[in-house]
Amino acid sequence: MYILGIETSCDDTAAAVIEAKGGFNKPSFSVLANTSYSQVAIHKKFGGIVPNLASRAHLEKIIPTIKATLSILRIDSGKIDLIAVTKGPGLLPSLLIGVNTARALAYKWQKPIIGVNHIEGHIFSNWLPPVRESKKREARSTKKIEFPALILVVSGGHTELVLMKDYGKYKIIGQTLDDAAGECFDKTARLLGLGFPGGPAIAAEAAKFKVQSSKFKVELPRPMINSKGYNFSFSGLKTAVLYLYNNLTAQDCSSNNVRSAMADEIQNAIIDVLTAKTVKAIENLNPKTVMICGGVSANKALRENMAEEFESYKIPFLMPNTSYTTDNAAMIATAGYFEYIQKKPAKDSWKNLVADANLRL
Ligand code: KG4
Ligand code: ZN
Repeated sequence: MYILGIETSCDDTAAAVIEAKGGFNKPSFSVLANTSYSQVAIHKKFGGIVPNLASRAHLEKIIPTIKATLSILRIDSGKIDLIAVTKGPGLLPSLLIGVNTARALAYKWQKPIIGVNHIEGHIFSNWLPPVRESKKREARSTKKIEFPALILVVSGGHTELVLMKDYGKYKIIGQTLDDAAGECFDKTARLLGLGFPGGPAIAAEAAKFKVQSSKFKVELPRPMINSKGYNFSFSGLKTAVLYLYNNLTAQDCSSNNVRSAMADEIQNAIIDVLTAKTVKAIENLNPKTVMICGGVSANKALRENMAEEFESYKIPFLMPNTSYTTDNAAMIATAGYFEYIQKKPAKDSWKNLVADANLRL
């Protein structure tokens, strides 16, 4: 079936069409079109996302984005079998634009609609195939995932360790008590005067760091790394960065060197904590698959570190293609497929769909 995905939970206006088949036993996907309009330029000067500006930009871009997506395929609405839209969690003014646009289309086209949990969308980014390299060869992925699966969700709004027992069956075993990992990247990047979003900015700055040439020591805490259970905390790291950065720049250190050394240590501290807690969960819970997802899972150092640390456990470790780590609509359409085959919504399901900013897994 052809599924139109729509995502507007935060600051990306995204639409995608995927082809899905195979059911729970042999799920198989190809991404036929995947379009996204980023609002980074709008929010950059504020150093974070401004909800009412996000909502206004979604309103301007949602129809052009959907039209552009469908025109890539040169198909009309009649070919679409299902609309899947993010219904939460996220910023309510942003969610409302996607949800109400999707409902209007479902009514007009007389198609069923599914409201997707954004976090579930991130999880299902792991079911998607690599991005098409040439237009002729269409990448398709068929994945038989073994459950229980342990999933580390690391995005700008969430840091959660989830045990997925089966399709639709999730247990959150650990989560952040304050800031999310992505939020920590964003806030510390701001303290260092780096760009927004902070994750890629910190990663790029860290890449400039050379251990040998560093004349000073930069050491940050690894909050809760040895604490009981699987919860996280990142707000203390932000405070430690503030004090240490002021301290080092007040000394006679070149600010460029300080900044790259700090960026490297921030990245290492976050990676160490995320990896240690995930390893602990692997050892205690014996999952059959491990996955990561969410914007922070784009981080190269994190991916390399985890691949190395998990190797000895001899269980499949999945990472989404980097094109599907940050918010996108292909992952929403994929999650929508599994919901659809479970719930089989009617053509008038648009009537009951509401956005829920605090939706839980
Ligand atoms: O999943 P996402 O696009 O949006 C939410 O659902 O929150 O995640 C956005 C977050 C931002 O905090 C951003 O700084 C972070 O993902 N991020 C990264 C990288 N790329 C994006 N963090 C670390 N390294 C990256 N390469
Ligand atoms: Zn997200």
